[in-house]
This record gives sequence, C-alpha cells and structure tokens, in this order.
Amino acid sequence: MNRILSGIQPTGNLHLGNYLGAIHNWVALQKSYEAFFCIVDLHALTTHPSPEEIRAWTRETAANYIAAGIDPSHSHIFVQSMVPAHTELSWIFSCFAPLGWLNRMTQFKEKAGKHRDQANLGLYAYPVLMAADILVYKATHVPVGEDQKQHLELTRDIAGAFNHRYKRDFFKLPEPLILGPATRVMSLKEGTVKMSKSDPSDYSRIHLMDDADTIALKIRKAKTDPELLAGTPEAMKNRPEALNLLNIYGALSNTSLEKACPHFEGKSFSVLKAELTDLLVATLIPLQERKKDLMKDPLYLDTILKKGAEKANTLAQHTLSEVKDMIGLLKN
Ligand code: AMP
Ligand code: TRP
Repeated sequence: MNRILSGIQPTGNLHLGNYLGAIHNWVALQKSYEAFFCIVDLHALTTHPSPEEIRAWTRETAANYIAAGIDPSHSHIFVQSMVPAHTELSWIFSCFAPLGWLNRMTQFKEKAGKHRDQANLGLYAYPVLMAADILVYKATHVPVGEDQKQHLELTRDIAGAFNHRYKRDFFKLPEPLILGPATRVMSLKEGTVKMSKSDPSDYSRIHLMDDADTIALKIRKAKTDPELLAGTPEAMKNRPEALNLLNIYGALSNTSLEKACPHFEGKSFSVLKAELTDLLVATLIPLQERKKDLMKDPLYLDTILKKGAEKANTLAQHTLSEVKDMIGLLKN
C-alpha cells in the first residue's frame, strides 16, 4: 500500500489555507493510503514559541486533525520530537545537501527577509529536516499546499543524492499531492498575497476557530472588484479576489473551479459571499464542536499521540538503522 506523510507546525491558530491546502485533502486520502500525520514541533522552534505556547498548540493541532476528520484508529497522528530518528537523519542529509540547493529556497528568503544574517540556522536547514520527516518513512506521496512544492523537490534531490552516493535505489522519490482548487488560498485583503499565519491583519484570513459572526464579517469585508462574476475561470483571469473566493467555494463544496463559476455567472459578489459564508459556517462550526469535546480530554489526545509515536518510531528506527549500515556508522 502507498504511504502518505504530511505535517503542520503547531504555531497557533490554523487558518483556511492550512485546512483546504492540507487537512481537508488528508481526510479524503487517508482511506486509500497508509497515513502518517505529523505535528512538526521542531520546525515550529524556528519561530521561538514559549514553552506554554508550543505545549498547548501541539495538543490543539492534534485535536484539529481529529476534529477535521482524521481517523486516529486508522491514521497515525504523532509529534515530530517524539521520534528522534527525524533529527538524526536530518543531520546525515545535511551532509548531502549543497548550500547552493538551500540558497534557492524561496520560503527561507521570504521568512528571513532583509535580515538574513540574523535568521537562525534552523530556519535555513528547515527543508532538510522536512526531507528527513518524509524519507524516514519512505513515504510515497506527500499531500501539501502549493507553497511546499519546492521543498518536495529538494526532498527528491536529497533522496537522489543519497541513492547515488551509495549506488542503491534505497529511497523512493516521493510525489507531492497538491490537490483541489484551493492549493494556494490567498489573503482576503489582497488576492495576490498568500493567506498566512504571519499576516498582521486578522481580516486577511479565516481561522478554523472563528465563530459564525466573525466568519460572516470577514467574508463581508473581503476585497472584491467592481464587476459582476463571470461564468468561466478564463474570463476572470485578472481578477485574483474573485478567483480566490470561488476557489474556496469550490474546495469547500468538493467541486472544481470550472464547475463553481457557472453557478455564479452574472451574479454580484454579495451572492457569492452569502453562499460562501453559509458553507464556511456549515463546515467550521461542527469542526469546532468536535474540537471543544476533544480538548476536554487531554488524556485521550495524549494516548493517541503516544500510540502514533510508537508506530512512527518502529518504522523510522528501521530506516535509520539501514542508513547507518549503508554509511558505515557503528550501532549499539
Ligand atoms: P504551515 O502552517 O506552514 O505549517 O503549513 C501547513 C500546511 O498548510 C502545508 O501543507 C502548507 O502547504 C499548507 N498551507 C499553508 N498556507 C496555505 C495557503 N495559503 N493555501 C494553501 N495551503 C496552505
Ligand atoms: N514545511 C511544511 C510547512 O511549512 C511543514 C512540514 C514539515 C511538512 N515537515 C513536513 C509537510 C513533511 C509535509 C511533509 O508547511
């Protein structure tokens, strides 16, 4: 059976981009794959959360996964730092990844900004740890949002370099799964900017935990343009705000952008916004109820994470042990 692995950083409130770009697709995929969903707390350390924050957010992220429909009796949900093989393999990979490859990473450039010298080494090495997250399970497929495509290419390059060095087809090259119409959800305030946790304006994004009034308000205030909606994506090529709202609508109603467009042909944005608000409320409010119940039972969540880590450790240790043999590292 093919195996998927993906992860999200426990850095606070998840937003609609995380949901539609990642979790929503995981839920659909888990039935046809052996599935591993990681909470990548070591990646989150690059943003310096306090101990209280990261502890709370790690459990919250697990609760979000389950509330959104990840089935813990079938899929493995686990915390990255509970599986030490990730960091061990990451070091080994860092000795295979030329600086030139890492210098190309656009996410590092965006996150480091103008003060590159002050960015931490963890932020720079971030994609190497991500490669280890994936390859330590020999995952065949990785469901992520569009922004992670470059990191997946680096993962494939690292796997290739390792295979080449040891003249063995040891790591299969994992395929990205970038699915659905909302692979890149844009800010509600600016249709050309990605929706992200780091945007200073709360009105740029819908949080999974926003209540119905907040969702309605944010959608009402979302940027639009003065035209009526057209019947095809081509006819709206240069209208990023319209396309973003329609992509979100399409993803939430499990249809394509092409099918969503004719439904609103000739209508005003207010019609789309009203339907979109209803869809968001119908999706997110039940998710919030389930999450609230889960958060009341931290013991249950910890049991799921412990079970997930046990399974993950078994597989990851096996890969690491093989890697050590290939490299010639002595084992205890
Ligand atoms: P992060 O919050 O950076 O840990 O992202 C976790 C997952 O959410 C990754 O698979 C990202 O590709 C996805 N993601 C984050 N922001 C967006 C967005 N605006 N649109 C689509 N997917 C996103
Ligand atoms: N880099 C991803 C992000 O920022 C998170 C991540 C870490 C990840 N390890 C992963 C995603 C492994 C998929 C597979 O969104």
